[in-house]
Amino acid sequence: MAKLVGGLATSHVPSIGAAIDHGRTDDPYWKPLFDGIQPAREWMDRVRPDVVIVVYNDHASRFGMDVTPTFAIGVGDTFAPHDEGYGPRPVPACEGAPGFAWHLVESLVLKDEFDVTIVSDMTVDHGLTVPLSLAFGQPSAWPCRVIPLCVNVIQYPQPTARRCFRLGEAIRRAIDSFEPDLRIAIFGTGGMSHQLQGERAGLINAPYDQMWLDQMVTNPLALTEIGHTELLREAGSEGLEIIMWLVMRGAMDATVREVHRFYHVPASNTAYGLLALENAEGL
Ligand code: DHB
Ligand code: FE
Repeated sequence: MAKLVGGLATSHVPSIGAAIDHGRTDDPYWKPLFDGIQPAREWMDRVRPDVVIVVYNDHASRFGMDVTPTFAIGVGDTFAPHDEGYGPRPVPACEGAPGFAWHLVESLVLKDEFDVTIVSDMTVDHGLTVPLSLAFGQPSAWPCRVIPLCVNVIQYPQPTARRCFRLGEAIRRAIDSFEPDLRIAIFGTGGMSHQLQGERAGLINAPYDQMWLDQMVTNPLALTEIGHTELLREAGSEGLEIIMWLVMRGAMDATVREVHRFYHVPASNTAYGLLALENAEGL
């Protein structure tokens, strides 16, 4: 049977990808961040997922403002990095996992009534590629197959925190009902506090971020009660991305073991946060 072997939450700041791509990870500005995430890379090396479900948001890259799926799943064979204006990142294309992706879609739609958008042809932007680079470094091919799962966090009305957690619970039911022996990990990306626009651009709220990191481990249900107005006020307009962490947390057991935690300010204009979680009963 398939098994959920780990959950990773990480911000997906594009300048982290640029630092990796341009060989700047030992620069004084970046070294503390890359030192801080190293234990998560070593953990991923031990966890060795066959497939990673990456929960992220498309930043008006593959989907323009003309089409905004609330939840979308990539069922294709391959996903190339999107050109976000400076050429595509020099990272490998992701190999998809269509067999499991179709099972996931079927289970979500027919068993759990999550009517996700099915995407057979898509490119993936920094929201997905930066977390892969953080987890796996710079291999010539990603060491696992990838299922992109997009959440709308950019166009009103975004799904609620509770809906994201429930999507995670439904994803777990799909994992647990997939017969082939597959080791599956799930990444929740985006956040932490940040605002890229307007008068409050550059907003960082470290105490609020710390509260999220704590509650993600011990009391995620409390986070599912948080509304968008609080998130906008406390975490900034783009800080709302943090609801995607709850998809990951909803898929994990109620009780988890914190393998690694890291928080760093700033990464460009953004607070960077990472949590590596395992189900309490282990691998
Ligand atoms: C930036 C962009 C993002 O999508 C994000 O999640 C954090 C930071 C940026 O452009 O700096
Ligand atoms: Fe983002």
